[in-house]
Amino acid sequence: MAKIIAGVGTSHTPAIGAAVDNGKAGEPYWVPLFKGYEPAKKWMAETKPDVVIMVYNDHVNAFDFKIIPTFGLGCAEEFKIADEGWGARPVPVVMGYPELASHMIQSLVLDEFDMTIVNEMQVDHGLTTPMTLLFGQPKAWPCRVIPLAVNVIQYPAPTGHRCYMLGKAIRKAVEGWHEDLKVVIFGTGGMSHQIQGPRAGLVNKEFDQSFLDGLSSDPERLVRISPLEYLRDAGAEAIELVMWLIMRGALGDNVKEVYRFYHVPASSTAVGTIILESRQ
Ligand code: DHB
Ligand code: FE
Repeated sequence: MAKIIAGVGTSHTPAIGAAVDNGKAGEPYWVPLFKGYEPAKKWMAETKPDVVIMVYNDHVNAFDFKIIPTFGLGCAEEFKIADEGWGARPVPVVMGYPELASHMIQSLVLDEFDMTIVNEMQVDHGLTTPMTLLFGQPKAWPCRVIPLAVNVIQYPAPTGHRCYMLGKAIRKAVEGWHEDLKVVIFGTGGMSHQIQGPRAGLVNKEFDQSFLDGLSSDPERLVRISPLEYLRDAGAEAIELVMWLIMRGALGDNVKEVYRFYHVPASSTAVGTIILESRQ
């Protein structure tokens, strides 16, 4: 049986990927951030998942405003790296797992989640920054990746509660797969940030710390945060945090926090990461 053994929550700020790609990770601005990710990277190297489910959002690269799936599951053999305006990042192509992804679609739709089947898609910084942060700069990514693209760009975004319930259904779907596979699920984006308008640069450390606490010990509190509260308290782009609730829902009730790191600033965001092992 395949099993989701752990979840990783992490920001996906594009400037982080650019810092690595351009050899700037050793500069004073970036050193504390990459130092904070070292233990997470070590954990990942020891954990060696067979498959990663990457819950992330596309930033109008794969999907333009013609079609915007709320929950799009990547079922392709591979996912090329998107050119976001300054050339595609020099990172390996992302190898998918069409058989498992199709099984997940079957299970999720039967569980009444209306997934969009995505058979061709390029992936942007929402997916590649977390890969770089946790896996470094290998020639090929060491595991297969099933991307789950969530719409948090065009309102209405799905609620935290809906995301949490989808996470639970994902756990069930994965456990219905016949191969013995170690699966790690990511929730990406956030933490507090606003990248536009008069409040650009807004960061709310109390909100972020409380969110990290809730992931660890009281996710039911977090699922009640409304879209308006994310916007008001943590900035326009903090809505990305609902994706962390998909990750949390997929871990079952019993989790152990094994790592946490929080840092401000990276570009205009507060950066956070948390690793939770499922004890179910
Ligand atoms: C920034 C952060 C994001 O999450 C994003 O998707 C784009 C930009 C930023 O801080 O610049
Ligand atoms: Fe983003």
